[in-house]
Amino acid sequence: MSNILIAAQNIRKSFNDGDLSVDVLKGIEFSIQKNQSIAIIGTSGSGKSTLLHLLAGLDIPDSGSIFINKKSINELNNEERGQLRNEYLGFIYQFHHLLPEFTAKENVAMPLLIRRCAKRAAYEKAEVILSEVGLSERMTHKPGELSGGERQRTAIARALVTNPSCILADEPTGNLDEKSANEVFELILELNQNHNSSLIMVTHNVELSKRADKICELRDGVLIDK
Ligand SMILES: Nc1ncnc2c1ncn2[C@@H]1O[C@H](COP(=O)(O)OP(=O)(O)O)[C@@H](O)[C@H]1O
Ligand SMILES: [Mg+2]
Repeated sequence: MSNILIAAQNIRKSFNDGDLSVDVLKGIEFSIQKNQSIAIIGTSGSGKSTLLHLLAGLDIPDSGSIFINKKSINELNNEERGQLRNEYLGFIYQFHHLLPEFTAKENVAMPLLIRRCAKRAAYEKAEVILSEVGLSERMTHKPGELSGGERQRTAIARALVTNPSCILADEPTGNLDEKSANEVFELILELNQNHNSSLIMVTHNVELSKRADKICELRDGVLIDK
């Protein structure tokens, strides 16, 4: 049990849409260990992104508890939750969310600069990680000058640059063609192993999900081991 990095107990979450209340999560049990990779699959609208947001402390469940590195995030204020997130988590989204006016290197260094890391050290670290994702020749390119796969590699580098304990990825290959999707997925798994981080990957690509250590399916508001 001591190896558990993120845990969720009996998570419930509903959204109100006018008079209508939609129960999206109805008692989620989840845990991920250090260095483990878990794929979460489920149909569109099943609540995958909602769950990922809750696990990251970006939203609060109606009931139930979430623990990041044994700290109950329910008991923290916004600022403390943000600090915990910064310290332990990295994010990759379906759309890269890179800043268009900055180069790949500047984008990747950004999380370190925001943490007031010295400029030179931040850029050096960004260069190392960009090389790891195969973009040593693209560091001074802006997102508009990169292919879809390259942009997503840059986003992966940006997520890893702070050495997070866990990467949370929400359909990171959903916007790529099949070949790039495979490459990006492999890269995320490989880097995760090299960096000793855990991975929670939301995907509706069943084939790709099989590469993770474990697959869970979100269906009817609960998470089932596959
Ligand atoms: N902020 C919100 N307000 C209202 N409804 C929401 C909100 N976020 C998600 N939902 C609803 O919750 C359900 C699950 O959404 P989501 O977690 O995005 O699903 P998935 O990522 O599996 O496609 C959907 O019916 C969606 O419309
Ligand atoms: Mg989603």
